[in-house]
Amino acid sequence: MKIIGINGSPRVGGNTDILLDKLLEGAKSKGAEVEKVILNTLKFSPCQECENIRDDGTCIIEDDMQPLYKKIEDADAIILASPIFFGSLSAQTKMMIDRFQCAWRAKYIFKKDTFNKKRNGAFISVEASRRQDFFDNAKAIVKNLFAAINADYEEELFCSGVDGKEGILKYPNALKKAFEIGQGIAVERGVI
Ligand SMILES: Cc1cc2nc3c(=O)[nH]c(=O)nc-3n(C[C@H](O)[C@H](O)[C@H](O)COP(=O)(O)O)c2cc1C
Repeated sequence: MKIIGINGSPRVGGNTDILLDKLLEGAKSKGAEVEKVILNTLKFSPCQECENIRDDGTCIIEDDMQPLYKKIEDADAIILASPIFFGSLSAQTKMMIDRFQCAWRAKYIFKKDTFNKKRNGAFISVEASRRQDFFDNAKAIVKNLFAAINADYEEELFCSGVDGKEGILKYPNALKKAFEIGQGIAVERGVI
């Protein structure tokens, strides 16, 4: 059972990072193998809309997205975590998602699944304000990605009113919930 957690916040040790760590801690406590990727530390280009995917449906750009594609393909569950920036996902997160256009084209145009394995998916997000519509915007994009990579949108955790770097620590219920979601995902996929 492998779980990959992807953090789209540039702030290491910030709210998204703390919540994601809690979730992964919960999954680990139930025996899952977990890995966290911080998008801001990767060197990758935005999608170039080349419409020139390889025969196997993969992206032709050779950069840090290549090992990430492989990690996601191998994972039984993907946890995507992003703060709300200007009413939607962070740029880092959106840039990664756009790079799945190869999978989208393969699946919907060439009828060839590149991410065959069924996997679980969860989305966690934080924002300073209290705008459900911002989470809704972000969620719609994440659902679109999850559909392209055969990830079921199983769980979500949205935390409003969180601004300062470790502001989320004032919300023990959110941290508890993140831990429980991690446990639940690990158990659901048959770790214990
Ligand atoms: C560039 C930028 C844009 C932001 N836009 C929004 C926004 O539209 N709505 C909102 O509620 N908070 C917004 N915020 C606040 C962050 O969502 C909030 O501080 C969050 O806790 C940051 O999470 P992090 O510590 O994981 O990076 C923005 C912050 C930044 C840096």
